Amino acid sequence: GGAKEPEDHGFTFEGPFGTFDQAQLQRGYKVYREVCSACHGMHLMSFRNLGQKGGPFYDPKYKNPNDNPIVKQIASEFEVTDIDPDTGDDIQRKATTSDRFPSPFRNEEAAKASNSGAVPPDLSVITKARAGGANYVASLLAGYQDAPAGLKIGDTQHYNPYVHGSLATQWTGDPHHVPQGGVLAMPPPLVADKVTYDDGTKATLKQEAADVAAFLEWASDPHATERKQMGFAVIAFLLVLAGLTYAAYRQVWRGKH
Ligand code: HEM
Repeated sequence: GGAKEPEDHGFTFEGPFGTFDQAQLQRGYKVYREVCSACHGMHLMSFRNLGQKGGPFYDPKYKNPNDNPIVKQIASEFEVTDIDPDTGDDIQRKATTSDRFPSPFRNEEAAKASNSGAVPPDLSVITKARAGGANYVASLLAGYQDAPAGLKIGDTQHYNPYVHGSLATQWTGDPHHVPQGGVLAMPPPLVADKVTYDDGTKATLKQEAADVAAFLEWASDPHATERKQMGFAVIAFLLVLAGLTYAAYRQVWRGKH
């Protein structure tokens, strides 16, 4: 029973001094774009976020991410639903940098119909929504296994030791040794060489899983790095202020007892 503990991937963004690796964010975006976005949206993320400071396609040449040609190109490859101002009808149009990542399905019914009854969750804040965060997402994606003998699973269920849940009702073996993990409706989305990385990194299954998990961690909190840096600036300022205050105190009270 229980779920397997996610593997520690040693991500660069962990800890108070951690920062995102921009090359990894670019690779992770590629995995999201070419694989995950077929089923999952990210409705809290605008295209221009990709080009803001700390983002995968940030380029200091473009202070305004709306001017960044890579970001513009990325947005233009997506279609979004909008309302025709004249007729009030739904229309499809090319996305702009200020649009958000669309859901690939028109509504929940359409999502269920395409995914054997399950709805692929929005991935905007998935690393915050699941215990284990990016380590969980990466472990899950690279962790699919054949169902252990004695586990009854449906045609549309996929066994994964990292999934939370209980398999007790599907287990025909020794009740004291229910397998770890659970089943989910998402078929294994990644295999080695599912994508070809532009930076020449070898696209192993683990690499792809870690890269997309890092990208999703960044997406769940695009201002995390700036916030950490601001925190350090504040602490440094307070330390200097404390020193000056103490020096002033010594000066004012010198020779007075
Ligand atoms: C669920 C990520 C690709 C369909 C999930 C979950 C995550 C995730 C984190 C939640 C698992 C949980 O509940 O803990 C990803 C990533 C992908 C990807 C990062 C790309 C690498 C896909 C694709 C499909 C898909 C291509 C459709 C063919 C689903 C469905 C669920 C799901 C249906 C719900 C499963 C259930 O609740 O049983 N995905 N996914 N995913 N995904 Fe994906």
